[in-house]
Amino acid sequence: MRILMAVASRHHGTWEIGEVAADVLRRRGHEVDQRAPEDVASVDGYDAVVLGSAVYTAHWLPAARELARRCEDGLRARPVWLFSSGLATQPANAANSPLEIRALLDRLGARGHRSFRGRLDRAVLSFAERAIVAGGRAREGDHRDMAAVAAWAQDLADALAADPAARVAV
Ligand SMILES: Cc1cc2nc3c(=O)[nH]c(=O)nc-3n(C[C@H](O)[C@H](O)[C@H](O)COP(=O)(O)O)c2cc1C
Repeated sequence: MRILMAVASRHHGTWEIGEVAADVLRRRGHEVDQRAPEDVASVDGYDAVVLGSAVYTAHWLPAARELARRCEDGLRARPVWLFSSGLATQPANAANSPLEIRALLDRLGARGHRSFRGRLDRAVLSFAERAIVAGGRAREGDHRDMAAVAAWAQDLADALAADPAARVAV
């Protein structure tokens, strides 16, 4: 199958999560294009889509939300999975704007959403970003669990192999 891995990332941490998932899907025989959402004009030609975003101040990045809006009809017509990466100190699912994710899942008819822990390196942040994180409790460091990402991607491959058209939550 041809799969689009669309990943919105400011500081590359989420992009690398997409790369790990894409590698697993490739090893399972799929052709995977990883793109920034702003570079995706259409999802035509893809059999399935994975759309992910870093979470900033409790929201997906605008480029990911805009892709979901721009390609809503195309996304509804094919299997879609969503993922987020963030560093919320409370369980990520509860912190990362669950209403926004719930609405996206419904609008796109997506098969599921997964939250992964992210990476925070103060040295690469803009002045404004540093000011925002200074007020929060986010722990600096790389908290990404790439083994969990790879296992999730295996689950996606299993779900596609089992029934490419079914809406199965993973
Ligand atoms: C200014 C700022 C705001 C953030 N807001 C949130 C947030 O609301 N929820 C969350 O879970 N993580 C938040 N994070 C953590 C990022 O989601 C995390 O660092 C992520 O891995 C960044 O991904 P990226 O490297 O792909 O940009 C924030 C980080 C920064 C710098």
